[in-house]
Amino acid sequence: MKSYIRIIDVSKRFKNDLVLDHISLDMEQGKIYGFAGRNGSGKTVLFKLISGLLKPDSGEIIVAGKKLGKDMDFPENMGIMIETPGFLNQYSAYKNLEYLAKIRNKISTDDVKKAIEMVGLDANDKKRVGKYSLGMRQRLGIAQAIMENPHLLILDEPMNSLDTEGIRLVRGILEKTREYGATVLISSHYKDDIDVLCDSVYEVEKGLLIKVR
Ligand SMILES: Nc1ncnc2c1ncn2[C@@H]1O[C@H](COP(=O)(O)OP(=O)(O)OP(=O)(O)O)[C@@H](O)[C@H]1O
Ligand SMILES: [Mg+2]
Repeated sequence: MKSYIRIIDVSKRFKNDLVLDHISLDMEQGKIYGFAGRNGSGKTVLFKLISGLLKPDSGEIIVAGKKLGKDMDFPENMGIMIETPGFLNQYSAYKNLEYLAKIRNKISTDDVKKAIEMVGLDANDKKRVGKYSLGMRQRLGIAQAIMENPHLLILDEPMNSLDTEGIRLVRGILEKTREYGATVLISSHYKDDIDVLCDSVYEVEKGLLIKVR
């Protein structure tokens, strides 16, 4: 099968800290890829490179046949949640996502509502996001990433702060996303969290990607 994402000989360093050391990886459509690794191993940096938020020092990244930094600045059709999601604290969940949807143009109010309900939040809840618990915020971050039905879904530590019900919901969402043919990338410092879901799992360690399975 043709690769949706191609990472070719990519390196990234911050001063003397070589975070990724000549890594290469191909990822297909309709698959879930898991990246495990200890704190500071480079999972977030890897996701930032793939999403165009950081540029590699060398090597190239191709998404859907287009080269990042050359053919485009960011992958098209991407939903993303990196680290702790930021929201407008004075507004409700719906207002926050409606605002983001409007910026992105093609997302309907129905898509917004559906995404909020899918993560187990209430689209009619008027509570300000500033009063949300950590897990509720995390759920909203995931809703934000999926509301566009993206071809590429990148979730950095999606299971963080989620309760058992939240984890079950997110697993269901990721399986559905895979079913409609998206490429899904998730990370966790705790491998067991993501292992059951993933088609392939990699450990990020000492600048390298080690295939676990
Ligand atoms: N903007 C930056 N400037 C300097 N160093 C950075 C920057 N971003 C990341 N790093 C360094 O890159 C390394 C990898 O960081 P990264 O955030 O990718 O780790 P991680 O695997 O996501 O860790 P965690 O499990 O804590 O989220 C760390 O040593 C970090 O200090
Ligand atoms: Mg991280």
